[in-house]
Amino acid sequence: MVIRVPDIRAWPPEASPLVAITAYDRPSALAVERAGFEIVLVGDSAAQVIHGRKHTTSLGMEEILIHLKAVRPFISHSLLVADMPFGPVQVGDRETKEAAVALVAAGAEAVKIEGGDASLGAIRRLTNHGIEVMGHLGLTPQSVHTLGGYKVQGTGRKAASQILKDALALEQAGAFAIVLECLPAPLAALITKRLSIPTLGIGSGSRCRGQILVFHDVVGWEGSSFKFLPHPFGDVSQHVDGALSRYKKEVQEGNYPEPDQSWELSPEEIEGL
Ligand code: KIV
Repeated sequence: MVIRVPDIRAWPPEASPLVAITAYDRPSALAVERAGFEIVLVGDSAAQVIHGRKHTTSLGMEEILIHLKAVRPFISHSLLVADMPFGPVQVGDRETKEAAVALVAAGAEAVKIEGGDASLGAIRRLTNHGIEVMGHLGLTPQSVHTLGGYKVQGTGRKAASQILKDALALEQAGAFAIVLECLPAPLAALITKRLSIPTLGIGSGSRCRGQILVFHDVVGWEGSSFKFLPHPFGDVSQHVDGALSRYKKEVQEGNYPEPDQSWELSPEEIEGL
């Protein structure tokens, strides 16, 4: 089934939960396309899982474009969303528009923008110009320094009420879906109930309209574990390590390559060279 923005915006309540995941390159894109997720996100989590950096704020526009262009050719069924990297929204309207246009021109069907109140104007302007936006509230990693670390958000009545307000405002501004990261489950459930667009939870309990996770954390390939994902769903690292040590052993023991795995030259052709 081919999924586009209007399908997500109007995801029926009786339909099964939306499942979303990140991808950054050809192998991850091929794997997620085979698995058939509704949404694939080229996330700025690439800063951490691909480049080994501490924060997503370090991933620039050129880099997200490289990942988007690597993924785009292999995603045809899922909705492909790209993260707005840290920078353009913080700098200004023109920069935000230029960045969003560049992402859509490179094949993103929508852009994901972090933040509530401060991002609202930008989101409204983009959606008014036909650029589809996914919101992102709660633990917004691009605000890690303001938040004082990667920790649960929306605890306490005041903070919970602000996030609910932000979610309603994002919907009003034209967002077609909202990621809710690390919110208490009852708050995520309440927001999900109040919105007509779907929520995608990550560390926000099961009562969101769907879930989103990072590829490497799901498959167990040098990913991270969290309270909301104590164990990966697979163990790719073990397969990779096994393949690498078999390759090394076979070469060291003279078993690879085998005679029929190379090309011959007749004795007349080699003699006397
Ligand atoms: O960058 C990312 O991967 C994300 C998801 C975790 C939602 O924003």
